[in-house]
Amino acid sequence: MSKAAIILAAGQGTRMKSAVPKVLHKVAGLPLLGHVIAALKGAGVDRLVVVTSAAGDAVRDYAKAAGADTAIQQEQLGTGHAAACAREALAGFDGTLLVVNGDMPLITADTIAECVKAQERTGLALLAFEAAEPGAYGRVLMTPDGTLDRIVEFKDASEAERATTFCNAGCYAADAQKFFGWAAALRCDNAQKEYYLTDVPALARQDGVQCAVAITDELSVTGVNSRAELAEAERKFQARMRARFLADGVTMMAPETVFFAYDTKIENDVEIEPFVMFASGVTVRNGVRLRSYSHLEGATVASGAIIGPFARLRPGADIGENAHIGNFVEVKNTKIGAGAKANHLTYLGDATVGEGANIGAGTITCNYDGFTKAHTEIGAGAFIGSNTALVAPVKVGHGAVTAAGSVITDDVCPDALAIARGVQAEKPGWAKAFRERKKSEKK
Ligand code: UD1
Ligand code: MG
Repeated sequence: MSKAAIILAAGQGTRMKSAVPKVLHKVAGLPLLGHVIAALKGAGVDRLVVVTSAAGDAVRDYAKAAGADTAIQQEQLGTGHAAACAREALAGFDGTLLVVNGDMPLITADTIAECVKAQERTGLALLAFEAAEPGAYGRVLMTPDGTLDRIVEFKDASEAERATTFCNAGCYAADAQKFFGWAAALRCDNAQKEYYLTDVPALARQDGVQCAVAITDELSVTGVNSRAELAEAERKFQARMRARFLADGVTMMAPETVFFAYDTKIENDVEIEPFVMFASGVTVRNGVRLRSYSHLEGATVASGAIIGPFARLRPGADIGENAHIGNFVEVKNTKIGAGAKANHLTYLGDATVGEGANIGAGTITCNYDGFTKAHTEIGAGAFIGSNTALVAPVKVGHGAVTAAGSVITDDVCPDALAIARGVQAEKPGWAKAFRERKKSEKK
């Protein structure tokens, strides 16, 4: 049966104390909303509607770019009201409808599939979990015979109800047509004067539909409402990624110090030393060694390369097989050929470096004149002397050498030596004479 989903993302996210809408805050470099969208797509949900506030332009733009439709909730009158706002966007849809909070970044396709499956029995299901720290989650109260009694929101709960630990995850599945009927019948006579999605099961029961409760693990349904919870979600997400990479054959001596992005790709037999950070868009092929304190973003590293310690690979860094990028070397939008080395204190931006080239300490590609970026080409086997400034656009031919300290402004022919620095002069005895003069002046 075809599946659609409503993602609730119109809330103010007041507890975040942020100018950025809550669902656009990131975990592992991806907005909370992006995680939910990815999980739903992974579960085969082909139609997505993200409910935003009227002022939620940024959320709407993000949702559209991610391939979702949007609906507007004019006033934030609660989660049940928000879900009802998607009715028009889903007009004519007749299948299984998922309703998912937009603030659940650890949700997976499998978790969503569990909810869909539970719904098949009765036409309505929700996910619940045993919480180690139930905090302000809604409490799921069961009858002695093991069916759902009701959900009570934390703010409406009695002391005794708050003491329970079985919680509502914020992920529901239902027959779409029936769901919109129930949502339209919600009332707001509660502590928050809101239309609670969590009251849908009670309305369904009046209709003869018993809401199934699928028990899931707490990890996957962690909700984010505050910065502290955002940090906690990040911690859990990182733990999950580290475990996955370890299982896939990546060595990490201190995995708890290595931070991945949601889309990091690493092949097996990669060794990652402590304190390496991945931003999005990184691919690392097998046999690579990533040394401590390196930061990678938008970079590809081919087999056998060694990166760091203290290296920075920025977007467009494409490091060839067995190349070495050493300490305090920054590489941006640059292709480094196989076996090439830039081991110390260097900036390579908008460049190509041929196979086996050696880039001396302190080399700088001067790629920016304040207006435009220009390209530097370094041929295979070239030797760039220490402290060379390569003023782009410029080409150094294959096998050429630049003398240390040169400022290279003209192209260098293959196999040539280019020297572009002041000529050394020597004044015999000058230093000694200088010292003696200064000493006598002091007396
Ligand atoms: C909600 C559930 C609670 C559950 C918890 C799980 C309700 C009433 N409560 O509480 O039972 O334990 O999630 O994390 O559903 N939103 C709108 N419009 C609104 C209000 C909210 O779109 O008018 C969106 C928010 O942007 C958010 C989602 O709905 O993505 C959930 O809202 P939130 O305020 O986070 O609800 P919780 O208090 O977490
Ligand atoms: Mg929430």
